[in-house]
Amino acid sequence: MVGGPNYPVRLGRKDSFVSKAKHVNGNIARPTMPLSQIISIFNSKKLSVQEMVALVGAHTIGFSHCKEFSHKIYNFNKTSTYDPAYNPKYAEGLRKLCANYTKDPAMAAFNDVRTPNKFDNMYFQNLQKGLGLLESDHALATDQRTKPYVDMYAANQNKFFQDFAKAMEKFSIYNVKTGRKGEVRHRCDAFNSIAT
Ligand code: HEM
Repeated sequence: MVGGPNYPVRLGRKDSFVSKAKHVNGNIARPTMPLSQIISIFNSKKLSVQEMVALVGAHTIGFSHCKEFSHKIYNFNKTSTYDPAYNPKYAEGLRKLCANYTKDPAMAAFNDVRTPNKFDNMYFQNLQKGLGLLESDHALATDQRTKPYVDMYAANQNKFFQDFAKAMEKFSIYNVKTGRKGEVRHRCDAFNSIAT
C-alpha cells in the first residue's frame, strides 16, 4: 500500500506461550543506546551491520512519539538548545510540534519528514542532510561502520529494496518455534488457552 519491495512471507510462524515485558530488555534496540550496543543486539540475532542498516530503512514510514527524541531538541547542552547534528529548521519545526508533549504524550513526528507515507529510500537521503529523527538515526549517518551503507542506500533505491527484502525474509525465520514449542494464536494479542 505504501510502495516498497515485495518479499515472500512464510505462513504459520508460531507464537510463544510466554510473553513478559522484562524479556524485551536487551533484545530490542532503543534510540538512546550507543551504536555499538545496537550493533551487538542485531549481531546477537545473526544480523550483520549491513542488514541492520537496510532494516532500519523501515523508518521511511511511520512516526515516533516526542519523548523518543525530546532530549535532542530541548535543553541539549550549555551552548545549544538542540543537537547541532539536526538541520536547524528541522529542529525548530520539531520543537514547535512537540511543544506540548508532556501534557499530550500522543504527540508524534513522522520518521521520514519528506515522504512520510511512501516506502522509498528518502530516509537515507534525510540522514545525509541532518533530517534524521531519532538519535540512533543520526548515529547511522555519522559512524564509520554504518555510513557507507547509508550512502549506498541513499544513492541506490533498488539496492535498498533488494537488501531490505532479503533481510526481512531472513529474520522472519529466525528462532522459529516448531512442534509443541509454540502455537498459532487465534487472536494475535492473546494465548489460545490460559491454564487454570
Ligand atoms: C536501530 C534500531 C532501531 C531503533 C533504535 C528503533 C527505534 C524506534 C522508535 C523509538 C520508534 C518510535 C516508537 C513510538 O514512538 O511509538 C520507532 C518506530 C518505528 N520503527 Fe524503529 N527502531 C529501530 C529499528 C527498526 C527496524 C529494524 C524496523 C523494521 C524493520 C523498524 C520499524 C519501525 C516503524 C515502521 C516505526 C513506526 C511505527 C509507527 O508508526 O507506529 N525500526 N522505531
